Amino acid sequence: MKVTVVGAGAVGASCAEYIAIKNFASEVVLLDIKKGYAEGKAMDLMQTASLNGFDTKITGTTSDYSKTANSDICVITSGIPRKPGMTREELIGINAGIVKSVSSDLIKHSPDTIVIVVSNPMDTMTYLVHKTTDLPKNRIIGMGGALDSARFKYRLAEALEAPISDVDGMVIGGHSDKGMVPLTRLATRNSVPVTEFISDERLNQVKEDTKVGGATLTKLLGTSAWYAPGAAVSGLVQAIACDQKKIYPCSTMLEGEYGLNDLCIGVPVVLGRNGIEKIVEIDLNDAEKAHMQESAEGVSKTNTLLEL
Ligand code: LAC
Repeated sequence: MKVTVVGAGAVGASCAEYIAIKNFASEVVLLDIKKGYAEGKAMDLMQTASLNGFDTKITGTTSDYSKTANSDICVITSGIPRKPGMTREELIGINAGIVKSVSSDLIKHSPDTIVIVVSNPMDTMTYLVHKTTDLPKNRIIGMGGALDSARFKYRLAEALEAPISDVDGMVIGGHSDKGMVPLTRLATRNSVPVTEFISDERLNQVKEDTKVGGATLTKLLGTSAWYAPGAAVSGLVQAIACDQKKIYPCSTMLEGEYGLNDLCIGVPVVLGRNGIEKIVEIDLNDAEKAHMQESAEGVSKTNTLLEL
């Protein structure tokens, strides 16, 4: 199992680290445009191998895509991250050009790969990869919902004063502050609806804190987060590499599912060796449907900014 991670910044390096620590991939290639940077990160990570007990071989390269040849999975993290006060949508001008050329270079060397898009605005960047490459739709996956759901579970556990392992919940919709749809109605603590334990008001606070999860960190860190994004990507990569058939919310091209068409947005999918093996349609109530519709309108509006 060969995995390429493009972009050796904080998110890319975290992806590589978590993938290696989970020890399911034989090889991880880190690629960056900054001279020597990916090589340095790879060497530093390799020097943790005996300490952390993994055998994954991590190598780095400065823009040599031939080193990524025959990757089973390619993760695109390249582009600029947001600064405090910025929305993910504001990054489109620079990141669209980068994601377009990176995906084309990757696919030239790995025509059968599965691409995971992390660069923001993520739903629109995932759509861009659909529109500018010949990869089938099951092989193009946007990472957002897995991260947003992890942040949702963190906030739920905090509100419930419960261990995170007791909590389950999912965020669908667009990966943006306004677009996220945390499914509070379906969230549970050990299969009991969380509404049994906390007030609607507290649950609403959880929802709002979840939606600005990334923005809160950007304000604290001065740049966007990396540990949880890296861990979320590693979860998707492992589900695919190990054919786990796990359900994660991911951004995928919709063709009528959830009443939506011609956009990529977060919905629950089954992930296995073929990438997105199934889109899972769950029954949403009227409020959730309306929120999803509004979210889709936001994503579609951002998509119109692409020069396709
Ligand atoms: C975040 C970025 C990765 O939400 O979109 O932290």
